[in-house]
Amino acid sequence: MRPIFFAVLIVLVTMTGSLAFAQENKGADQMRLEGGGQGSVPFPHHRHQTALGDCLVCHSFFDQEKGAIADAIADGRLVKKQVMNKLCIQCHRRQKQDGNPGGPLTCTQCHKKES
Ligand code: HEC
Ligand code: HEC
Ligand code: HEC
Repeated sequence: MRPIFFAVLIVLVTMTGSLAFAQENKGADQMRLEGGGQGSVPFPHHRHQTALGDCLVCHSFFDQEKGAIADAIADGRLVKKQVMNKLCIQCHRRQKQDGNPGGPLTCTQCHKKES
């Protein structure tokens, strides 16, 4: 193999390697978020990733970690129900106003009591 081809091959292998790594940690597909006395909130995580195409819509407010919302509330970066009101409901409402597919807007459509 000529050195130039070999160099290109190395670069390509490294690039696809780090791309695969970057896409690896998308977190859980389905989650159940802590929702207090109203009941927990089923959350289709990957569907949002696909529909929105931008992690930072949500993850500029809390980290990419399980329990990140609770941690952010605990250290004062967020207050209770801020994610619910300013992210979930506000976006779903805007989607509906614009006539686009969105998510639930009423309490019991989001909060499910464990049976
Ligand atoms: C619509 C909001 C939203 C978007 C957009 C979003 N996430 Fe998340 N993500 C969440 C929520 C909510 C949690 C759970 C936080 C908690 O447990 O308090 C979470 C948790 C995570 C976790 C840790 C939990 C686990 O299952 O391991 C990872 C990793 C993660 N997200 C990666 C991503 C990546 C990568 C993207 C973009 C491709 C993305 N997220 C886009 C809302 C979102
Ligand atoms: C789009 C989904 C959604 C809707 C609609 C919704 N919630 Fe929530 N709610 C959440 C999520 C997610 C959380 C957890 C994150 C947070 O505290 O912002 C939450 C948190 C809460 C909490 C705080 C629990 C705690 O102690 O930390 C209460 C109380 C609550 N919701 C009540 C309601 C009521 C009452 C309604 C209807 C008027 C409602 N929610 C509608 C998603 C929703
Ligand atoms: C920036 C916009 C945005 C934010 C923030 C957002 N959503 Fe959504 N949500 C959507 C869109 C768009 C869809 C429709 C996706 C699809 O059709 O594939 C959706 C769909 C859903 C669905 C599925 C409804 C069904 O038809 O089964 C649930 C449940 C949901 N969202 C809950 C939440 C919760 C809980 C949060 C907050 C933690 C949240 N969403 C934050 C845009 C958003």
